[in-house]
Amino acid sequence: MLTGFKNAVEVDFTLEENKKKIEEAFKQAHAEAGAVYPLIIGGKKVETEKKIASVSPATKEVLGYACSCSKEQADEAIKASYEAFKKWSLTSVEERVRVLRRLAALLIENRFIMDAWNVLESGKNWGEADGELCEQLDFINSYVMHIQNLEKGKELVPTDELTKCVYIPIGVGVAVSPWNFPLSLFGGMIVSAVVTGNTICCKPSSDAPIVAYKFVELCQKAGIPADVVSYIPGSGSEIGDFIVEHPLTRFVNFTGSKAVGCRINEHAAKIADGQRWIKRVVAEMGGKNAIIVDSTADIKKAANGVASSAFTFQGQKCSACSRAIVLADVYDEFVDEVVKCAAELKANQGSGESNATMGPVINQGAYNSITNYIEIGRKEGNVVFGGTYSDAEGYYIDPTVIRDIKRDARIANEEIFGPVLAVIKVDSFDEALDVANQTEYGLTGSVYSETRENIQRAKVEFQVGNLYFNRKSTAAVVLQHPFGGFNMSGTDAKTGTADYLTNFMNLKSITEDL
Ligand code: SER
Repeated sequence: MLTGFKNAVEVDFTLEENKKKIEEAFKQAHAEAGAVYPLIIGGKKVETEKKIASVSPATKEVLGYACSCSKEQADEAIKASYEAFKKWSLTSVEERVRVLRRLAALLIENRFIMDAWNVLESGKNWGEADGELCEQLDFINSYVMHIQNLEKGKELVPTDELTKCVYIPIGVGVAVSPWNFPLSLFGGMIVSAVVTGNTICCKPSSDAPIVAYKFVELCQKAGIPADVVSYIPGSGSEIGDFIVEHPLTRFVNFTGSKAVGCRINEHAAKIADGQRWIKRVVAEMGGKNAIIVDSTADIKKAANGVASSAFTFQGQKCSACSRAIVLADVYDEFVDEVVKCAAELKANQGSGESNATMGPVINQGAYNSITNYIEIGRKEGNVVFGGTYSDAEGYYIDPTVIRDIKRDARIANEEIFGPVLAVIKVDSFDEALDVANQTEYGLTGSVYSETRENIQRAKVEFQVGNLYFNRKSTAAVVLQHPFGGFNMSGTDAKTGTADYLTNFMNLKSITEDL
């Protein structure tokens, strides 16, 4: 029973007092511009020569500099985490719960400044940033609840012997987290490790290292011993393989691209000299998410849901929709409606700081790759909205709708991770399901239909980790829609659940003859 758990509630930014608070927080963050954020290795702050500039995607201004971890420093961090594990793994669940509850309270106390840094680094708007902070609070509160249940161990049948079967921590984790949810995915990896009695070395994305640093500061302030969480931003090509392959690394928690996730899985599988375990990998990777719209769907509602899934946060959520698969008899009507929705979103385009509905994409590399896909899409179909972009000030790409896309087109199969929607026409619901399932991914999917039979069929046949009906495919809420994908979308470790935590623990079966 999940009694006692309540999802966190987002700040209401229509209230003047909250608007003032976040504006004040932006001022505070800007006043810190250009600051240097050190590595944190086994509790020690370490400044390095080499730096990572955190750049605003909205203005290209440098927000600050994270220090860049070398191989030697990564080695030091993992060794320090290994030492810290000896003590932290023996800490009572009660103590772990105490500090994590304190962390949740500190996050609430600091929510406006955390939201502000998130907005500045990732380019999302206020509501999106605060929604992410709520997700982080939900992760903390759900994991705290689960660990207290897991502490009871497995239920066993009674025997003449004295038996128990208990969950125990496993060791040093390495967290490699993305820029698109720089607080909740980074923080979720830390909290899941810490609550289970493990220690962790975290490599945040180079695109959003400051909000991650601020979160680690809060962890320390909350009373998590400083050597339990190490902060080691760095270049993937320099330290990525090294931290995964390190013989003292016990598990890897990753969210990012399919290419990097597959590489991590491969490198983690190699047994290094002196390594005494098979490493565990939790990976959440790409997607090519589809929404099916059948002939009985409420077309306006479907268009709204598709546009929201495809274009909010510029299509940069792993749950975002990038394919609308629409039955032929409602295809034109759907396209007209989705274009109207895209136009509404574009009307309020600007920086996250100005709280625009649509902001910039994360960086020059993403901008180049997404706009390249737009040009490919222009040849593969007909652009009926958007297709326009500019990187003059920040990295802005208009919401783009491309119709008449064939199922084998590149933009119907390759992950774009930007505000580009391919609209594919199909003749039957069978074909719709077939197209939906044709990619190697399986993260989210949605179906708009008023036909019970189609809904029932999709529940069985649509192969995704998160399946929705008559609603958008984004915005999973912790413990309402456990999140994680199938196939090349990841290892299907559903965040926020007790199952998720068991990835980071062993079960020890203990028996005493009486
Ligand atoms: N979990 C988030 C969502 O459902 C983003 O990946 O939208």
